[in-house]
Amino acid sequence: MVLGGKSGGAEIRPAGKGLFGGGMNLLTGKKALVTGARRGIGGEIARVFAENGADVGVNDIERDGEAEKTLAAVKKLGRKATWHQADIGASAQRERMFDEFLKEHGRIDILVNNAVRAQMTPFSELEEADWDHQIGHALKGYVFCAKRAANEMVKQGGGGRIISISSVHSFRAWPKDTIYGIVKAGLNRLVLSMAVDLAGTGITANCIAPGYIDSRVLTADQEPNRGGKGYADHAIPLIPARRGGLPRDIANMALFLASDLSSYVNGETILVDGGLQAGGTPD
Ligand SMILES: NC(=O)c1ccc[n+]([C@@H]2O[C@H](COP(=O)([O-])OP(=O)(O)OC[C@H]3O[C@@H](n4cnc5c(N)ncnc54)[C@H](O)[C@@H]3O)[C@@H](O)[C@H]2O)c1
Repeated sequence: MVLGGKSGGAEIRPAGKGLFGGGMNLLTGKKALVTGARRGIGGEIARVFAENGADVGVNDIERDGEAEKTLAAVKKLGRKATWHQADIGASAQRERMFDEFLKEHGRIDILVNNAVRAQMTPFSELEEADWDHQIGHALKGYVFCAKRAANEMVKQGGGGRIISISSVHSFRAWPKDTIYGIVKAGLNRLVLSMAVDLAGTGITANCIAPGYIDSRVLTADQEPNRGGKGYADHAIPLIPARRGGLPRDIANMALFLASDLSSYVNGETILVDGGLQAGGTPD
């Protein structure tokens, strides 16, 4: 088989607006907190949740023009948008973020753990400081955000949804991804324990494992090229969908996991990678 040769078929097209191509109001009245949501995948999750009737708390470690765009997009959809600046790796900031969110929204129905600052380093050059940084926010931070959200959901009654963004790196190694891969594999394992320990509460805990997702900040005229030529060109021949993923591809799965449609899905890690992991070693 010649990788990257003529596939004999079309690429799998991205979905349009929202799940099933339209606003379904799957989250009417829900209160969702999304970490690392000023831009990228988190920003798109905030938009899709708002399109489906949720009020959204937007967390990030920094506030910039992208953060303003995300907040404005949620408000334009007629939903409440609140800003919660915090480093999710720092316990006092993390707890303040939840206190502020609960004060603004009164309850929490959905948490999406998404924030990350990844650093890729060859194994032989790993530094303890890098380990502490990545494990500190992207694993410890996710665990303790999940714990706080779960405890609030139990207090409230009525269950809840906790979604963590993992990665294809949790299943396979790429060069220089030791710490990132360990962090993401840890998340897949985390949701197993949460599903078991939170049994009977109505809370579900699941991961989404994205493949190559074009989360670059692009100008409006570049936007139609998102996920297309010029993004991960080397990888596209290995992806059965024959395109890079869009933040909306991940947001649509987050919508499903956040909604009542997924009430019997728990402790699971769902690949959203255009089929990347389905392929083995190239011929
Ligand atoms: N883009 C991809 O191809 C891809 C693939 C697999 C998994 N993922 C995962 O998806 C998630 C989002 O990725 P993205 O591509 O949208 O990244 P991104 O860099 O566009 O967004 C991440 C956001 O997290 C924020 N952040 C970083 N550290 C933080 C902290 N300590 N506290 C609060 N906010 C913090 C950043 O400021 C940024 O806005 C991550 O968990 C990432 O590992 C992405």
